[in-house]
Parts: sequence; C-alpha cells; structure tokens
Amino acid sequence: MVTVRLVVLVSGSGSNLQALLDAAADPAYGAEVVAVGADRPAIEGLARAERHGVPTFVARVADFPTRDDWDAALLAECSRHKPDLIVSAGFMKLVGPRFLGEYEGRYINTHNALLPAFPGTHGPRDALAYGVKLAGATLHFVDSGVDTGAIIAQVAVPVLDDDTEDTLLERIKVAERRQLVDTVGRMARDGWTVNERKVRLGRG
Ligand code: GRF
Repeated sequence: MVTVRLVVLVSGSGSNLQALLDAAADPAYGAEVVAVGADRPAIEGLARAERHGVPTFVARVADFPTRDDWDAALLAECSRHKPDLIVSAGFMKLVGPRFLGEYEGRYINTHNALLPAFPGTHGPRDALAYGVKLAGATLHFVDSGVDTGAIIAQVAVPVLDDDTEDTLLERIKVAERRQLVDTVGRMARDGWTVNERKVRLGRG
C-alpha cells in the first residue's frame, strides 16, 4: 500500500498533531507524518514531533523582510519533505500565493467551528456568544480566504447551558481530533474528488 506523506503545521499545543502521530503508528493507516513545521519556536507541538523522531522546522514571519519571503521560505521547507498532503492543525498563519500556487488542493485545515459560521481565530468564543446550540469542527481545503475553502468533513457537538469557552473548546477538540484522524486516513487510503465545492471521499 502507498503511504501518503503528511507535513503538519502547528502553532501551539499540537493535540491534533498528536492524534495523527498516534494513528500513523499503524502502517495500515495509510499516511505518515514526515515533518512538522511551525511559525514559532518552543511550542508543545514541536516537542511532540521531536519525541516521535519526526523532523521539525520553524519559519517565523518576523525573520523575513516581507510576508512574501516568509511564504516562499515556508513553501521551501515544506517541499523539502515532498508532502502529498499538508495539514494545518492549529497553525495560526495564513499562507500566501506562492504556497497556495504549489499546494492548493493538497493543503487542508481543521477549524473549530461549523463553517461557514464563525471563521477566524475565535470560533468557539464567537459561537458561544452568538448562542448557538450546536458547535463543532470543520475540515476543509485552504484557499486564499479565511476558512472559506471547500468542506471535506464536519462534526457537531452540543453547546451546554453552563459552557464556558474552555469547556466548549475541549468538547469540540475531542470530536475534531477524531474527525481529523478518520478523514485524513480515508483521504490517504481512498483518495478524493472535488467538483465545484463538493468534496467526495473515495475514488468516485
Ligand atoms: C484546534 O481546535 C484548531 O481548530 C484551532 O486551534 C486548535 C489547535 O489545537 N485552530 P491543538 O494545537 O491541535 O491542540
């Protein structure tokens, strides 16, 4: 069986990355994490990769003269590892046109809200403030917008009366990690097609 090469991008704790690392320990999963990249050093996400013996790289926006230079550097770092799929798992940066020029259609992001509601960095907080009764997570392809790309999978969780941002976020993340692992595995093993905005897993 072909093993799909994943590069995972992180900015924080990396619990979604951990779920992928754990799943990929089984060769039948169909994908392996070949590198982990970050936009900042000294984060738990990088430490998780190091503990698994997975190569890491850091590309900080502040270390480059322009955002375009950073975009080119991130692209180069990712490409060194010859990824089939790049996963943004809590990566808090929008990539630019160079990166998308190479990886649009093979770059996916997990977002902690039910898109198209509540895009951006505070999905659970915004959902709670709005008073929705269902929250959740969305796995989607990345395009040049903010959380606007074609949706691959979604999972809903209830919002409870006494939820705080933290309790809601944790409930979402449990479902989000399971969805990420299940869906990336299916993409790796079975492929996918995209027609307009309609994503279908499997060879069609
Ligand atoms: C996830 O909930 C993701 O949707 C959001 O940031 C969180 C990252 O969590 N963008 P972790 O770093 O994988 O634990």
